[in-house]
Amino acid sequence: MQLYFDNAATSFPKPQVVIGAMAAYQNDCGASPGRGAYRSASGATNLLDLCRGQLCTLVHAPSPEHCIFTLNCTDALNLAIVGTATHFLALGEPVHIVTTAMAHNSVLRPLSELDQRGVTHTVVPVDPITGLVDPKDIKKAITKSTKLVVVAHGSNVTGTVQDIETIGVICEDIPFLVDAAQTMGHIPIDVQRMNIAMLAFPGHKGLLGPLGTGGLIIKPGIEHTLATIRTGGTGSASEFPVQPSNMPDKYESGSHNMVGIAGLSASLSWILERGVQALQEREQELCELFLRNTKNLSGVSVVGPRTENRCGVFSLRFDENPLEIAIQLETEFGIQSRAGLHCAPFAHETMGTSNCNGTVRVSFGAFHTEEDITYLSNTISTITQKVLS
Ligand SMILES: Cc1ncc(COP(=O)(O)O)c(C=O)c1O
Repeated sequence: MQLYFDNAATSFPKPQVVIGAMAAYQNDCGASPGRGAYRSASGATNLLDLCRGQLCTLVHAPSPEHCIFTLNCTDALNLAIVGTATHFLALGEPVHIVTTAMAHNSVLRPLSELDQRGVTHTVVPVDPITGLVDPKDIKKAITKSTKLVVVAHGSNVTGTVQDIETIGVICEDIPFLVDAAQTMGHIPIDVQRMNIAMLAFPGHKGLLGPLGTGGLIIKPGIEHTLATIRTGGTGSASEFPVQPSNMPDKYESGSHNMVGIAGLSASLSWILERGVQALQEREQELCELFLRNTKNLSGVSVVGPRTENRCGVFSLRFDENPLEIAIQLETEFGIQSRAGLHCAPFAHETMGTSNCNGTVRVSFGAFHTEEDITYLSNTISTITQKVLS
């Protein structure tokens, strides 16, 4: 038996309709959108547009052409961060960016690269128990030069879910970029109500689409302060050797991952049919069950928030090396987990788990059952008892 608990990396399994849609696209269409007037190329364009519309419906975004397809969430974050910095640097303006200690390396590394171009940034500390940032601390970190505030909605280490609605209010005059890698498809998001200027998301985690999909939804108008970081053929305005400025072509150079987008569109239909709210309620029940089951275990502790302000990502701190525990979980019990620092060095530093090689992370998905969670917690109990005896 193999029981997959690494949905924070990518979700598995996918709804069967996803696999069907990918095969159907490759078997029956196979064309590249916007690259021809023949019927299958128009069919591909329609599918691309459909998928943009579904994504906008999901997060209440007003304009499908402001939904940009990317390779993954990392790619979307790079576009948002580097594109914003590049725009203002070209105008000769100082650029300062604010983020939090729960940021993933897909935010921290672009920021470190930008240091060399004169961009400064502030990493706002978070509560060492819950991982929550105090929105007032974000407000204090904002300076006259701040051009962007970047916040991870859900932590991939502790599952902490930040109060992005309050942070959105603080960011009234500064573009607010939300990294929804761990929340898109898990928690309802409304970009208009939450004042989100840019929403970066993977298609392959909570949205249940295939690997190699993701996107950046921007508020109409943001394209005027967001430079493109990748140029090339768009199938449009081919007579000009310069990048077109119309949306979404400005940011979508090269051929799309249409097999992936066909799968993503099918998974979005699956999600929209059920509703993100219902999926969240189900995940919350599983979280509560897991926390109840592991509450009194010795030799292991759950790092991060209890039932409030969290999603189904759990970091477990054992007395032993997390890698050895993860290996034991798989080889003896068939449980796939993820040990280490999870590409989020400051989050582990804050939680006090960097010096012990990190934690063992287990992350829940849409297909987990109560029995799966009970098997997981019973197994953790067995392992800790074995170690203690
Ligand atoms: C919080 C967070 N941001 C960004 C990413 C990057 O997402 P992707 O794997 O789609 O590039 C991840 C991946 O795990 C993540 O957890």
